[in-house]
Amino acid sequence: MTSGIVLVGAALGAVMTAQVRTQWSGIYTAEQAKRGEAVYTQSCASCHGDDMAGADMAPALNGSMFSTNWNDQRLSDLFERIRVSMPANEPGSLSRQQGTDVVAFILFKNAAPAGQSELSSRSEELDSITYKAVKP
Ligand code: HEC
Repeated sequence: MTSGIVLVGAALGAVMTAQVRTQWSGIYTAEQAKRGEAVYTQSCASCHGDDMAGADMAPALNGSMFSTNWNDQRLSDLFERIRVSMPANEPGSLSRQQGTDVVAFILFKNAAPAGQSELSSRSEELDSITYKAVKP
């Protein structure tokens, strides 16, 4: 009896490990990143730079500094950071969809591959994906 329970536990553990999703498995579409680029150009580039390399006070949103900052955090954390505080001159002005699209564009600029389905703006979905600086 007891060994049966242990086996089920081990199997569940294996399934859960296999389900850790990262931005490396194609979690947004190319079209979505394109929409995000338009949001970025309109609302972010003036401070973070056309190439995302940062300027003055605004940090780069790509490259090793960004990746180190966000390593092991959820996409929901990045999304919320943007939703609550960005654009810094007009926080809260983006819709959830625009915020999600801009996250997709940031992922694209950080070398994450596009995939078949769009990144959803639902919190549970954003919460289920972990940002990993290094491709596993
Ligand atoms: C008016 C200038 C300005 C605009 C416009 C702006 N930002 Fe920022 N952003 C900043 C500054 C300054 C910081 C660093 C200080 C802070 O966190 O407020 C920052 C920080 C960030 C961070 C945290 C970076 C890190 O690694 O910790 C993210 C993410 C971000 N911005 C995304 C965006 C996005 C996406 C947009 C467009 C929707 C945007 N920002 C528009 C000025 C701006």
